[in-house]
Amino acid sequence: MIDPISEFHEGKVISKQFQLVSIDERIASTGSKYYIFHLKDDTGKISGFYFQSIDKEVFEKLKNVNIVFIEGIVEKDKNSELVIKITHFKGIDKKEDIRKEDIFKREDNIEVYWKELEKLIDLVDDGEIKKLLTIIFSHEKIRERYSEYPAAKSVHHIKLGGLLRHTIEVAKIAYNIYKVFPDKLDKSLLIAGALLHDLGKIEEYEVYYDREITDRGRFLGHIIMGVMRVRDVIKKIGDFSPKKAVLLEHIILSHHGRLEYNSPVVPLIPEAFIIHYADEISTKLDIFDIQKEKNNKEENWSNYVRSIERKLYIGDYNDLK
Ligand SMILES: [Fe+2]
Ligand SMILES: [Fe+2]
Repeated sequence: MIDPISEFHEGKVISKQFQLVSIDERIASTGSKYYIFHLKDDTGKISGFYFQSIDKEVFEKLKNVNIVFIEGIVEKDKNSELVIKITHFKGIDKKEDIRKEDIFKREDNIEVYWKELEKLIDLVDDGEIKKLLTIIFSHEKIRERYSEYPAAKSVHHIKLGGLLRHTIEVAKIAYNIYKVFPDKLDKSLLIAGALLHDLGKIEEYEVYYDREITDRGRFLGHIIMGVMRVRDVIKKIGDFSPKKAVLLEHIILSHHGRLEYNSPVVPLIPEAFIIHYADEISTKLDIFDIQKEKNNKEENWSNYVRSIERKLYIGDYNDLK
């Protein structure tokens, strides 16, 4: 990520895009107007001050802009808080002009994860299932989205490319469970279920101004969209075993484990249980990481985490009192 807010210091010269949370117009004691830009990136928040006048039309337009390019210098205000003294700004209203590296955190090891994914596909013995995985994961658009999308809006694996890391984690957990129970599990089905379980997320999310849920995502959800997409590819392959198809679809449909968690069916075969639990493990461990990263006051307990309805212990075990 380029110039994260968390690394700003007094005197730093700024030239980067931010998310613009809001903008306020204020009147100084001298009677002249000034403006406060409330800015944010994935690492923090900061206020920017602009002391020249802004044309009324420009100001109204800025209120509806989500991303703004800022030039200025970091200073300390009278409360010793870091702020930006803005010398130049420009609202960004075209998606293609957004510089994601300025705003969002990104997974570091995307290429490593793709290599791991290839190795996992190599472990699949079933020719039909291997073909299905190869077609899906060599599709350029699909690769681009796994590399570029988070696995969730705010709960877990939220960095760009988080969807790929989460998928690899689930597949590696599942494969390691297979090694404990090789006689009880279908390896090909298990690996394919893991790699495909969140395929629908490539249509559920998009990242431009922020991590957004698409209209299609809201209407259909990633579980159904994933199954629809797998079914499309199976149809194109033509002679794919209907029995394997239904088992694979079952794993995707049941991976949230419970009807009240948006799975239309609950797991009914061992592989489906394992993908569900592997998904849980990957998700929960990442929630700990996110809470630790958020915890800049070095507290032992996280804030209340709404998605799992509890505070988590994120301190060192030696600090227990
Ligand atoms: Fe999911
Ligand atoms: Fe998942």
